[in-house]
Amino acid sequence: PEKVKKLYEGKAKVVYETEEPDKLLLYFKDTTTAFDGVKKAELKGKGSLNNTISSLIFEILHRYGIKTHYIQKLSDNEMLVWKAERFPVEVVVRNFAAGSVVKRLGFKEGQRFKEPLVEFFYKSDELHDPLICESHIELMELAPTETIPLMKETALKVNEILSGFFKEHGITLVDFKLEFGKLPDGSVGIVDEISPDSMRLWDSETGEKLDKDRFRFDLGDLLEGYREILKRIS
Ligand code: C5P
Repeated sequence: PEKVKKLYEGKAKVVYETEEPDKLLLYFKDTTTAFDGVKKAELKGKGSLNNTISSLIFEILHRYGIKTHYIQKLSDNEMLVWKAERFPVEVVVRNFAAGSVVKRLGFKEGQRFKEPLVEFFYKSDELHDPLICESHIELMELAPTETIPLMKETALKVNEILSGFFKEHGITLVDFKLEFGKLPDGSVGIVDEISPDSMRLWDSETGEKLDKDRFRFDLGDLLEGYREILKRIS
């Protein structure tokens, strides 16, 4: 598959049309951004790490029968995916308190939740991705109503699969974000990437943060963390 036309350039990826109308090519950039793009850096090799880790995770999910847009990894920085009608919703699953839930509700960082917590956010740059509930998704028609329980169940299933997978490699899956969309065959599946940009991953022994929080809060070399994750899981 070849890049035919640039469709869209985001903060971390470029999306290209291919010769096949229902397939897209994702190019993972070396750009890292945080806080709505306010903090920004070029980190050589970051795109390739995210593409590799994300591809590996999608392949695991496929083995468990989870539907995603992933078709194959094409090169260091390129992934072939099914074209999807993306819902402007982010689904976050949390096993431990960290990030916005600490700020918002006063949980203590690292506190384990009795049950995984599922949250929805409205993907909107102008509104800074506000927290929403299922009623907002229905009212604002952000996704078909019948897909709401499906997104929630899928996110929880992904959490079980990935929590177990990372645990085997000495890593704690603290939280992660998923996006969903309608795939060409009409089914709903996971889109975007599942990488250390969109997950919190802590070393199970030391608690060291190996994910994008390294960049957000200047905790250490981002690439070193991502390389450590890849080394352990591959
Ligand atoms: O910031 P917050 O604590 O809500 O993030 C929860 C999880 O979702 C984190 O793993 C974070 O990396 C991810 N996330 C994301 N994209 C966003 C917001 C959060 O991947 N726009």
